[in-house]
Amino acid sequence: MTETARLLILHGPNLNLLGTREPGIYGTSTLDDINAQCRTTAAEHGVEVDIVQSNHEGELVEAIQAAAGRADGVVINPAAYTHTSVAIADALAAVGLPLVEVHLSNVHAREDFRRHSYVSPLASAVIAGAGPAGYRYAIDHLAHLLRTT
Ligand code: DQA
Repeated sequence: MTETARLLILHGPNLNLLGTREPGIYGTSTLDDINAQCRTTAAEHGVEVDIVQSNHEGELVEAIQAAAGRADGVVINPAAYTHTSVAIADALAAVGLPLVEVHLSNVHAREDFRRHSYVSPLASAVIAGAGPAGYRYAIDHLAHLLRTT
């Protein structure tokens, strides 16, 4: 790849509340803390990032569509839409970019409804339960993938 690679980092609903939202499950890092860490990790790889958080399914779909031809990969924590949104999964399939799904909590150790993800079958990797570090691992993975493909 000759041009600088760019990743879209997408945060779904209620992730704007991180820091105060159920800290026993999601920890005390704020979304700003996580985004700062994402920017640092991306810079270490010489990769650019666009970061979007939305509580609205359609806005997330539009951000994914806008990534076509602009981004080289997507890191997404679809939050509750993981378990419900065919529209977000369809948008991710349509753009066809390398994708990593991230969850702060281990969704497999929680309620049964969190064990199903519409996004996972499309993902190159799924990281759940690593807390904010999961975003760093996701960026590391995509940067490696983009360097070697
Ligand atoms: C989450 C897990 C989802 O089940 C939940 O709806 C979220 C956050 C996580 O990061 O652990 O909002 O995606």
